[in-house]
Amino acid sequence: MATLNVELGDRSYPIIVGSGLLRDEALLTPYIVGEEVVVVTNETVAPLYLDQVTTSLKSRRLVCQVLPDGEQFKNFETLQSIFDMLLENRCSRSTTLIALGGGVVGDVVGFAAACYQRGVPFIQLPTTLLAQVDSAVGGKTAVNHPHGKNMIGAFHQPACVIADTGTLTTLDRRQLAAGIAEVIKYGLIRDPEFFAWLEENIESLLRFDDDALEFVILESCRHKAQVVANDEREAGERALLNLGHTFGHAIEAATGYNRWLHGEAVAVGMLMAATMSQKMGWLDLVAVERVRALLLRAGLPVIVPDKMSSSDFISHMTVDKKVLSGRIRLVLLKKIGDATLSSDYPDDVLAEVLAEFTR
Ligand code: NAD
Ligand code: GLY
Repeated sequence: MATLNVELGDRSYPIIVGSGLLRDEALLTPYIVGEEVVVVTNETVAPLYLDQVTTSLKSRRLVCQVLPDGEQFKNFETLQSIFDMLLENRCSRSTTLIALGGGVVGDVVGFAAACYQRGVPFIQLPTTLLAQVDSAVGGKTAVNHPHGKNMIGAFHQPACVIADTGTLTTLDRRQLAAGIAEVIKYGLIRDPEFFAWLEENIESLLRFDDDALEFVILESCRHKAQVVANDEREAGERALLNLGHTFGHAIEAATGYNRWLHGEAVAVGMLMAATMSQKMGWLDLVAVERVRALLLRAGLPVIVPDKMSSSDFISHMTVDKKVLSGRIRLVLLKKIGDATLSSDYPDDVLAEVLAEFTR
């Protein structure tokens, strides 16, 4: 078991990583405020892992809610169903919410915790690689709006993150790859050695090798914890964590949030950002090909959905939280391991990239 900290003064919290942690009541206890605990999960994760968590919480007043599974349910209706359940069970302000699942459950439960009675504590128990390396850490919570991804949300830090790597054994290859996309992101934006390590070791990850998975979870969380500690509310550096996301969110929105996994959309988005960086004269072609090759080896998509046009991209990309004074801002790469947020790009370079990918 290894522990990292997200240093945020009196809101600091640990990220605990290891196998078999869901059964360990002693890990959860210090972070539970009051006697009421509400575990929210989804219909896929519940039969796999809910028992492990509830067994370790027997001594509490416990309520469980099982949500439908899918990004398309990361919406107001699901949020409302959580509020209904909390109120029907007379849950007080000292209730602790526990999010057991992937990034969708984590984001929506975190947002419910941020809003319920103006904020109750919550704990993240991430069960996908994507959630363990990214979404469970950092306190971004949200639901999607039909006009845009994660458009309605709040910053609300968890009390702790407990990443049981044993849960990753039930992920399928597609979900594993989606998590690897966010891992590759850390290499691209701030760690060229980590990117090179991934090039060397991607097959171990794809074989679900325990040591390789634990290494990338810890490295990714170390990066994320540093960025969040430096810039919790995304006034600057944190925006770099959105490499590929502006293009990717457009793909997710254009496909109705139900065909592409978030990590898959981010993968193509990162290649689009790398291509644009090359056209800006920053990245060389060899670097772009290294990005493409690693994504392909990870089993991630490198082409956009068939029917998406440049104007589909633009109309979705203009609904992005990084848009400033009407201008789309993009995370681009100066080199592998060095990213920058830019609004100062020629429009025809963006148009060229979109034309190339939607051809
Ligand atoms: P997800 O939550 O939809 O999980 C993917 C699939 O895996 C789902 O079908 C889920 O039920 C299933 N699953 C979860 N754990 C499992 C397990 N252990 N075994 C078998 N199946 C399991 O998707 P995700 O990729 O985890 O997260 C994507 C979401 O995270 C997106 O909504 C994205 O916007 C969000 N996100 C948020 C942040 C943030 O900082 N808050 C960062 C990155 C991504
Ligand atoms: N995944 C982007 C962020 O947490 O800022």
